[in-house]
This record gives sequence, C-alpha cells and structure tokens, in this order.
Amino acid sequence: MPDATVIAHISDLHMTPLAGFTPRHWNVKRTLGLLNWHRGRKAVHRREIVDVLVDDMRAFAPDHIAVTGDLCNIGLPAEYEAALVWLEALGDPGLVSVVPGNHDIYTRLRSHGGVETWRPYMRADEFGETLAAPPGRRGFPYVRRVGNVALVGVNSAIETRPFVSAGRVGEEQLARLATLLENLGSSGLARVVMIHHPPLPGQASANRGMADAHAVEAVLSRHGAELVVHGHMHRDSLVWCEGGHVRVPILGIASGSAAHRHKGEPLGRYNLIRVRKDEGAWNIEVIGRGLTAGGTGVVELDRLHLTPC
Ligand SMILES: [Fe+2]
Ligand SMILES: [Fe+2]
Repeated sequence: MPDATVIAHISDLHMTPLAGFTPRHWNVKRTLGLLNWHRGRKAVHRREIVDVLVDDMRAFAPDHIAVTGDLCNIGLPAEYEAALVWLEALGDPGLVSVVPGNHDIYTRLRSHGGVETWRPYMRADEFGETLAAPPGRRGFPYVRRVGNVALVGVNSAIETRPFVSAGRVGEEQLARLATLLENLGSSGLARVVMIHHPPLPGQASANRGMADAHAVEAVLSRHGAELVVHGHMHRDSLVWCEGGHVRVPILGIASGSAAHRHKGEPLGRYNLIRVRKDEGAWNIEVIGRGLTAGGTGVVELDRLHLTPC
C-alpha cells in the first residue's frame, strides 16, 4: 500500500449546455431555473475554467477524482449526455467517483435516465460490494477503495419545488451509512465521505440546506469518519463535527467553474487531498489550487493540515 493516497476534489461545475428545452420538459421549476441561469450564472460558470483546472489537476496524477455534484443546471437530457461525455474524458469509472447535486436531480424528467446514466461513476467497487451494508435500492451509499482510503458516496439530492435547493439523505441511506462507517472504522482505511449538501445543522438556510442534518450529524458523530467533502455552497469552508470520541472535518469547496466572482463566491478551484497515516494517526493535507483575481493561471491558493480523530 502506498504511504499516501491523493484524492482530487472538484464540485459544482454547472457546465452543461441548456439545449433541447422542448415542451415535454417544461414546468415551472425548470423555466424559472432557465431564466435565472440567463440572468446570472451563465456568465459565471464556464467550461473553459473547468478545462484549465482539470489540466492542472492531471499534472499531479491524483489516485482518484471525486466530483461532488451539480454538473448540470436544470436537468435536461442534453445536459446529462454532455456531463457523461465530460466524465468519460476525465477518466474511467475506476478513477472518478460522482455523487449527484440538486441540479442533477432537479425536477421531473420524462423518458430519460437522467443521473442514472452516470451510474458507472456512482457504484461500489468489489471491495464496497463485500461490506456488510452494500448499497441500497437506489445505489447509495456506495463504497470504493482507493489506496488507504474508503470513499463513501452519499446522495443528498432530491427533487424540490421552485426556489428550493435543499437536500435530504433519508432514513434508509442513513441506516446503511451508519453500518458502513462503523464497519469501515476497523478496516484500517481512512473513511472519506462525499456528499453534495453541507451535512451539518446551521450550515445553510432551510431552503438550501440538508433537511435531515441533525440525523446526519448524529450518524457522523456516533460512527466517525476521517473527512467529509461537499459542495453546493460555492464557497470554501471547514467546520468540525464533534461528538463523543470523534472529531470529523467537514470540508466545503468553491465551484470548479467560476470565471467571475458572483455574490462573493470565489473563483474556480479544486483541492488535492493527501491522506497519510503517521504513527497510527491520520494526517490529511489539503492543497487548494485555482484561479486568482488578475492572475493568469492556476496557482496554489492555500494549504491545510487536518488531524481527525
Ligand atoms: Fe452548485
Ligand atoms: Fe447545489
């Protein structure tokens, strides 16, 4: 086993084309989303920024790439298809893991598999299938082993009303997550949970946050994890989930496609997460790389050292 495993984390790309808006897909939520897109975020989230970040990421040859949702905007068939083409160019499903965001499970979608078409990137590997809590009916949470890391993919995305981007993990997934975290706790692997929404109470408003955040917090603080990575807020953040004998870092990341500052959100970035065990304790180094105002390329933005317990 190599002494360190490097996971690249990128999120909230919002890069798919808004094409194929036929009456079949019309509803209030999608129409408002389309108007909103043209009014604001169309100029912010740019595919060329994603390309520049991914080129930089490749130079570091990460062991795995975690994509925590919002590849799409309003959940049209052409968006899922474009996102799948992008994923296939990024790497094969053994190299890339995805969890959906609220823009990927957005509103009713007829006659198309939607996010299910990305399933090869959202399924357990052989190691994950052998665990006592294999993925549930909807395929989550799934587990993949990468070096000394057990990646746990949780789906927090649900269809919502207009103006609501909240998420929910749900009882069935939470019960499985509890069993998985407990079993993986004695595996000798670092448990890295991927989820789209910020998981703790108070991290987002009721319309935007996790509806069952208290239950998620209870599972994390009871069963532990070495790191949780999430997107959704388009901002970098670090909070800790503390309870009993555990202390879990919860790391949020800015959008991976922001070409301009919008509502105070940072420019595009990704993180390189280096996971290593030092004298029996997990040591997690997070190197942020991205764009700066007035800069001409991707540079190191910041560096964090996390010691979960
Ligand atoms: Fe987003
Ligand atoms: Fe989101």
